[in-house]
Amino acid sequence: MQLLEGERELILSTVEEVLQNSSRNREDLIPSLQRVQSKLGYLPALAMEKLAEGLDIPAVDIYGIATFYNQFRLNPPGKYQVKVCMGTACYMKGGEITLESFERRMEIEEGETSPDRLYSLERVACVGCCTLAPVVVVNDDHIEGYVTPTRVDGIMLEFEEADQKEEETEKETEEETKKTAAEGGKNK
Ligand code: FES
Repeated sequence: MQLLEGERELILSTVEEVLQNSSRNREDLIPSLQRVQSKLGYLPALAMEKLAEGLDIPAVDIYGIATFYNQFRLNPPGKYQVKVCMGTACYMKGGEITLESFERRMEIEEGETSPDRLYSLERVACVGCCTLAPVVVVNDDHIEGYVTPTRVDGIMLEFEEADQKEEETEKETEEETKKTAAEGGKNK
């Protein structure tokens, strides 16, 4: 995944800060990975490399641990994060079809983030509302129940509309700021 503007610097300073607060022992590896992830939202390859150097551990070992524990994510969270429940009830009611529908619409596979970081897609274990199966969790705070492929289209449309609206608002604010600055200049 390509880094965004300024992200490299952010990763380097985050790892530096985490290393400064660690005893630099091998036992510190998991807590250090957790701290990096809580600050950056994921574990970029560059962060793992730098941690490997700082803790004097082969990078391959760090990568092994990060991929072994599913608390760690190697891809950045998308602006719109979708988690498809694959617990027994959801699976039985068509969770797999829901997941495939999202994969098709987002053009990514489960576990991935779209290159523009707009979408990320994951499968999760039971989220505790089996009566609504198949269930999808959007952005960690919104539960969608009875998600059919048609509803997947609806959810994707809502994302697209929300994103478009946000872009328009940003543009309007930008124009407003320019206008105010130009008027301020005239009044001097
Ligand atoms: S199995 Fe999906 S909410 Fe329980």
